[in-house]
Amino acid sequence: MRVLITGAGGTLGMALAPALAEAGHEPVLFDVQPLQSQYEAVQGDVRKADDVRSAARGTDFIVHTAAIHGIHLRDHTPQDFYDLNLTGTFNVWEAAVEAGVQGLVFSSTMGVYGESRKPQSATAVVALHEELPLLPGDIYGYTKVAGEEMCRFYGRKHGIPSVALRYGMFVPEPFFRYGIHLLYGGVDTADVVGAVLASMDVLTAGTVQWDAFNVESFVPFAEEDAPQLRQDPLPVLDRYYPGAAELLRERGVQQLAPITVTYPMTRAAERLGFRPQCNFEQWLEELRSRPEERAEQSPPWP
Ligand SMILES: NC(=O)c1ccc[n+]([C@@H]2O[C@H](COP(=O)([O-])OP(=O)(O)OC[C@H]3O[C@@H](n4cnc5c(N)ncnc54)[C@H](O)[C@@H]3O)[C@@H](O)[C@H]2O)c1
Repeated sequence: MRVLITGAGGTLGMALAPALAEAGHEPVLFDVQPLQSQYEAVQGDVRKADDVRSAARGTDFIVHTAAIHGIHLRDHTPQDFYDLNLTGTFNVWEAAVEAGVQGLVFSSTMGVYGESRKPQSATAVVALHEELPLLPGDIYGYTKVAGEEMCRFYGRKHGIPSVALRYGMFVPEPFFRYGIHLLYGGVDTADVVGAVLASMDVLTAGTVQWDAFNVESFVPFAEEDAPQLRQDPLPVLDRYYPGAAELLRERGVQQLAPITVTYPMTRAAERLGFRPQCNFEQWLEELRSRPEERAEQSPPWP
């Protein structure tokens, strides 16, 4: 398939293009920045309907990633968010209809849950599953909730199936921070790419018309771990990964920040057949083999 990636110069787009090519697809990169790439690249702005329409012409599928996100809340106005994330998504959907694509993957965020992330008590941990109310606390989360709703609307009206992937954070980070972050809503970019590919499979096979999925690393914690996760996660970690507490202490981690939220990945496993591969367990193994790695601060994250 010819697959249009909007925002193709970003973290996700740069990782996705070669994975698509490897899977036998033809990536078409679209970005407001000029891109040097071995793949077909089109410079354009998702805020401009004509740019998106001409880029989408002749493509079979769209992965829409162009957006400003959480880190941009500091230096962008609500209008900037609306223009890029909402008008941009509207333009992408209109172009999708005109091109008659087979499906669309929408980049959403865990930020759509907003207030639903807050634990009810000092000993509770929220399992942030997909059925919880979407109560975004900022304009970024709001634009993604509205974008998800736009996907549902275009699916109903034009029969184009889509999936919204609610990503955890996948910004490039130093090794130690990255690993600990996997316990606090981080996800590896390779798993984000894996979730996109799995979504494309179910959408083109026609087994999913619309759905939204958490895309996070896997954490093993159970409900009864909640009070201790809030107080001191290290002993809990040690129960699931024997020797983890000692290893982390040896590397300068005296304590971990309380864990208040977990991100169930069951729906993606059941409906997409997608399971994250880069989890805390794999990171711990790598840590064992990298004796020079030490935490720069304790707790290492946030
Ligand atoms: N990275 C994360 O931690 C994270 C977490 C949750 C959700 N997401 C979502 O995933 C998607 C991809 O994130 P990312 O980290 O790869 O983003 P990124 O910031 O790395 O890249 C975004 C790309 O969009 C391009 N872009 C900006 N304005 C544009 C415009 N007007 N027209 C066309 N292209 C434009 C930028 O040039 C950039 O290449 C985004 O929709 C984001 O909201 C990201």
